[in-house]
Amino acid sequence: MKFLREVQHPAKGDKDIVELGMVEKVESEGNKVIVTLAFSKHRDPLAEYLIGSTKSVLIKHIPGVEPEIRTVIRDEAPKKHAGLDLGTEELENVRHIIGVASGKGGVGKSTVAVNLAVALARLGYKVGLADADVYGPSVPKMTGTEEAIPEAFRDGDKDVIMPIEKYGVKWMSIGYFAKPEQALIWRGPMACNALKQMILQVRWGELDFLLIDMPPGTGDIHISLVHDIPLSGAVIVSTPQAVALADVEKGVNMFRNDSIRKPIFGLVENMAWFTPEELPDNRYYIFGKDGGAEMAKKYGIPLLGQIPLVQGIRESGDDGEPAALSSRPDGTAFVQLAERLAEAVSETK
Ligand SMILES: Nc1ncnc2c1ncn2[C@@H]1O[C@H](COP(=O)(O)OP(=O)(O)OP(=O)(O)O)[C@@H](O)[C@H]1O
Ligand SMILES: [Mg+2]
Repeated sequence: MKFLREVQHPAKGDKDIVELGMVEKVESEGNKVIVTLAFSKHRDPLAEYLIGSTKSVLIKHIPGVEPEIRTVIRDEAPKKHAGLDLGTEELENVRHIIGVASGKGGVGKSTVAVNLAVALARLGYKVGLADADVYGPSVPKMTGTEEAIPEAFRDGDKDVIMPIEKYGVKWMSIGYFAKPEQALIWRGPMACNALKQMILQVRWGELDFLLIDMPPGTGDIHISLVHDIPLSGAVIVSTPQAVALADVEKGVNMFRNDSIRKPIFGLVENMAWFTPEELPDNRYYIFGKDGGAEMAKKYGIPLLGQIPLVQGIRESGDDGEPAALSSRPDGTAFVQLAERLAEAVSETK
């Protein structure tokens, strides 16, 4: 160690490597002396120089020595935003965080989430929605905000993203940053990271409800999400057919799992019946009747609402003007659903 004090770091005011804490370990074995040096950057431009000087100093002072220099990379302080380690500060003023989930894809989860958000805002609540479907984000299209570019800035040691505001709701989606085809090739960990950023790095401000449009299925992303985001609970979306119901069971179990234990505020039965535009009073139960009610009973969760299958809902989704904005029956169905949800949430402790 005494000899190593002669090795100075030219870029650090000529302080020596011992003083700089760069000497991790010194070992010896016969004639061999092994010095392990710690660098803080992967490519310290002076690494080669310091390794050479360390060798020379040892050779100079210890006759017959065989020096070996090993190196390790050690970052002094890992940066907070660099990994999965995002804090929940941005969620501090959010009262209820609700996952909108389903076991099965394509049951209208995003449609329900977007319309529920708009309906809650219509009722006077402060609402945000995070599109957690990093593989197939649909919020930008459904809200007509595809062209929006969220403002991002640095606040202290943190990167922050501002949500997009429209229809009285704060929206965030990976779709604002990446084209869907880019997002599709992401591997699991990257997708999980992106997802967390879409929730934890967003300056939501004060919200009564933050809805999270969960991706379909019950995989890794879901598990990571329910563990890392302080969810208040979930809403499950299903269609009435039996196949969908079997999948919904997986969705329900995801939140009731022993290590998660989040309340399920209720079930939304989507496409509960079909009503043609020209016959607004007719209901055709094309996927079966009362499937939602039966399944709600089976799992002991309230049936929050039934949303009909109507052309207007699909069209307004495609046009970026959620049906919940309208005073048509399908619009008011979402407003009723929002009322029931707000009630269910306030009753759950
Ligand atoms: N009640 C409804 N009436 C008419 N069309 C609907 C209704 N609900 C959903 N749709 C339409 O069905 C399609 C699928 O809906 P949506 O994208 O909301 O499903 P999802 O469950 O989010 O799908 P994914 O699993 O891919 O995320 C969309 O075109 C949507 O407009
Ligand atoms: Mg979706």
